[in-house]
Amino acid sequence: RTVYVNGDYVPEREAKISVFDRGFLFADGVYEVTSVLNGKLVDFAGHMRRLRRSLDELQMRMPCSEEELLQIHRKLVEVNAVAEGLVYMQITRGAADRDFTYPESATPTLVLFTQARPVIASPVAERGARVVTVEDLRWGRRDIKTVQLLYPSMAKMIAKGQGVDDAWLVQDGKITEGTSNNTYIVTADGTIVTRDLSHDILPGITRAAVLNCVRELQMKVEERAFSVEEALSAREAFSTSATGFVCPVVEIDGTVLGDGKPGPVARRLRQIYIEESL
Ligand code: PDD
Repeated sequence: RTVYVNGDYVPEREAKISVFDRGFLFADGVYEVTSVLNGKLVDFAGHMRRLRRSLDELQMRMPCSEEELLQIHRKLVEVNAVAEGLVYMQITRGAADRDFTYPESATPTLVLFTQARPVIASPVAERGARVVTVEDLRWGRRDIKTVQLLYPSMAKMIAKGQGVDDAWLVQDGKITEGTSNNTYIVTADGTIVTRDLSHDILPGITRAAVLNCVRELQMKVEERAFSVEEALSAREAFSTSATGFVCPVVEIDGTVLGDGKPGPVARRLRQIYIEESL
């Protein structure tokens, strides 16, 4: 596989990053994951908008122009012949002598790589995901897409240890989001409920696209926090992310939702999202 590091396209085994890189020492960096369908990037503009915001919040600068970032994405997709999969892009503050304060002048480190893998044909989306709830112990600025992913990894391991697919994170009795996705329930009267944007969750690019679509279809939607109890009695549930698109959820903490099969709202939104992304 060819990867991109600070201006160079190199075989992955030759790629080098400084041991003093602040991404490595302080998780001082941000990232984006853009999915690839039929060799095309899905909603690249949306990912760029969020990237700019993440960088601004951390007083970091863009390592190059957005047009250059687009060209790097395209070139990696091409040289690695990715028909379906994703592009991972990471920008860290760069290398500097270890110090808690940000260095005055560090050159940002820019790294990109691809992962080829099926995204449309997903066994979990077919059967519906089973999730458990886990306390949300992440920091207070989850709206910034930082590379600080240890707690989401731990939560996912807890889910794996319990033989299920993912964890939904809970703060003060309300679901914030999944380990790497935004979460939704459909109430008895058919209203789609998803947590409102704040520092508590990541503003998902897929979330924005799906909510647009839901509004165009004039489906009922409420952006507000929902409790674990409300989720357990929901008619159906689902999650969204660049890598999972719309993924139905059929079981929460051992409670089966509806008839235990992916619900009609989730299935419909998944199909529409995929069609519009192709
Ligand atoms: N994760 N919430 C969290 C905590 C996430 O990490 C992600 C994405 C999302 C969904 O955002 P989007 O729709 O823009 O992908 C929500 C990516 C896919 C990852 O870390 O691999």
